[in-house]
Amino acid sequence: MTIEYNQQENTFHISNQHISYVVGIEKETYLVGKYFGKKLNYFNGSRYHYLYDRGFCSNPDNDDKSFSLDTILNEFPDSQSGDFRTPAYQLEGLDGDPVTRFSYQGYEIHKGKEKLAGLPYVRVFDDSQAESLIIHLKDSVRQLELDLTYTIYDDQPIITRSAKLLNLGQEPVYIKKLMSYNLDFLDGDWEVVTLYGSHINEKNLNRRPIQSDLIKIGSTRGTSSPQSSPFIGLVKDDTTENSGEAYGFTLMYSGSFEGSIEKSQYGTLRTQLGIQSKNFKWLLEPEEVFQAPEVILTYSDKGLNKLSQGFHRLFVNQVMNPQFAKKERPILINSWEGHYFDIDEDNLYELAVESHKLGFELFVIDDGWFKKRNSDRSSLGDWVFDDKKFPSGFEKFAARIRALNLKLGIWFEPEMVSPDSELYRHHPNWVIKSWRYEPILSRNQLVLDLTNPNVREYLVDSISNVIEEGEVSYVKWDMNRHLTDLYSVNLGAAQQGELSHRYVLGLYDILERLTQRFPNVIFENCSSGGGRFDAGMLYYMPQTWTSDNTDAIARLQIQNGTSLLFPQVAMGNHVSDIPNHQLGRLTPLETRFNVACAGNLGYELDLVRLSDEEKAAIKSQITFYKKYRKTFQFGKFYRLSSANDNIISWQIVSQDGNQVILIVVQKMTSNIYKVPIIHLQGLDEEVFYQNIETKEAFCGDELMYSGLTIPRMKGDCTSKMYVFEKLKEE
Ligand code: DGJ
Repeated sequence: MTIEYNQQENTFHISNQHISYVVGIEKETYLVGKYFGKKLNYFNGSRYHYLYDRGFCSNPDNDDKSFSLDTILNEFPDSQSGDFRTPAYQLEGLDGDPVTRFSYQGYEIHKGKEKLAGLPYVRVFDDSQAESLIIHLKDSVRQLELDLTYTIYDDQPIITRSAKLLNLGQEPVYIKKLMSYNLDFLDGDWEVVTLYGSHINEKNLNRRPIQSDLIKIGSTRGTSSPQSSPFIGLVKDDTTENSGEAYGFTLMYSGSFEGSIEKSQYGTLRTQLGIQSKNFKWLLEPEEVFQAPEVILTYSDKGLNKLSQGFHRLFVNQVMNPQFAKKERPILINSWEGHYFDIDEDNLYELAVESHKLGFELFVIDDGWFKKRNSDRSSLGDWVFDDKKFPSGFEKFAARIRALNLKLGIWFEPEMVSPDSELYRHHPNWVIKSWRYEPILSRNQLVLDLTNPNVREYLVDSISNVIEEGEVSYVKWDMNRHLTDLYSVNLGAAQQGELSHRYVLGLYDILERLTQRFPNVIFENCSSGGGRFDAGMLYYMPQTWTSDNTDAIARLQIQNGTSLLFPQVAMGNHVSDIPNHQLGRLTPLETRFNVACAGNLGYELDLVRLSDEEKAAIKSQITFYKKYRKTFQFGKFYRLSSANDNIISWQIVSQDGNQVILIVVQKMTSNIYKVPIIHLQGLDEEVFYQNIETKEAFCGDELMYSGLTIPRMKGDCTSKMYVFEKLKEE
């Protein structure tokens, strides 16, 4: 891992054993992208951007008509100097003047990396793990400094970038847009991959060619959202899961974001990700600093599986809270779909007794436990136990659960308040709303104003009390509506455009404080399922409830798309009842389990009223999962099919390579049944792998190149799971 400055060429070459990133300085002023991709030993510019005089191109140096900001590969373009593509930033003086002129000032290279104040970032535990380059740009008229930071990590195909604006002048300035990165590619012939969706339909893969136009993605909802994800992928038209080039960019940010992919008039390509600029206007006073979130950039020369595996490794090793990152996660029972709001200490205890018998490890009380919360119409914000539902008191109830050898988990939706709650009656101004209008409700609730330190204090205290009272080991952190009525009485008139971002900073502050205070509590991220499943939340919460859709067949697509970015150990997957509560589908228990195994296993149904046969099946599923848990949660994940195929197959290889698990699911049976042959991946070519059930052994090369025949699966929603173990050499 090195960062070299080549004085003669005026270039910085950032590289490790996997990738190279080269950025240069033109005319001692302008920062230009030169290369990002597979590692190069040297960069001497054999391929360069040939520039010549073109029509309608303005020239900052009038004596050099070939040089225009509209045609160069601009590393961080502004909006007012003749680059008419999408700008990376837009500033404005108090007089409305939008013109800025930043030019290169200097650089620093150092070991390790600086933390990003108040924001999540890729962690570096010691300086030998990373090296950073900070390029300083300056607008000497306004006395503004723009620092672009690049960090490269040891042995990972990863570079992170971020941008920071410092006001060293005498006058305030408005930031109307500040992206986390901008990357221009000389070769613009790519397909773009994005993730779109909706509630119970998260993370669908959308892959399409890029024409000469501008593709925009984003969220204005206050969260990263189920509708879109802060992710951009670029692939060649022949890139597959296992071959061809692929780039992936994702933001470590959980709020409104925007991203763009723009093919220019001359065929170059520009991509960006950053905070959403709609509704955003940040007043930067003299001596203040604004830090844009970090973005992760990665490259794979062998298709999308390798790209995903790069993200997965980084997320486990350097993003998740190290306290949990590599720890096996408990198998949980969650009360929601089994009981909804109809919970009390008797029916919960009954469920807990059954859970204990079947081998569960964590008992999660979902929504409905707090005062007067009998439906979704009231009580959010009043985080005290309902003594009607828990007449013996929470402490005692919690102790009874723990006595069954179960850890206790509890649900909160901290960022919300119900109008019908004590909290709202006492603090009507603690919510995001305009003082002129009645605020818009969604799921009967309002959003608390997390920019207000008193609100944050209240939440940290009230959540801490419950955690302490019940010796709680797990918190499910829900968030079930998006932000409307963007006005805060806590902010001045000039700062209202800061609200959405300050909301996210407020959330991160609360999460930082709670996770520090309760280092042994697992926080599970949830926003009506995977509505805020992003790398920013992963920094604080090591797992996420992947989707409110618990239908195993619908989950194939959702988990498949989620796996593009996130490792299995980040995904919460539950086996639920049939007919499925979201879709009404009937899926065999075996398939519900097999699909849920590709992540952190949980169950969400009323175990008590299942037949003895079903209980026995669940008991043996749990025993099986425990045996292979490490592989399920931490193994290397391969998508062997595409989300739209009728037969979906996923393969997981344990970290030591000794166990190989294959999950094969058939959505619909068919009269033109084509017997599936599955080609495994990533095996040792010369070693035998034994099927633990049939005891047949096959050499790794045969399983990969000749393939494995999957005998006919009769019926819709059927599935099979295979476990192979490497045979030790005699
Ligand atoms: C939405 C979550 O995603 C569900 O799992 C459940 O916790 C409900 N909220 C409870 O209101």
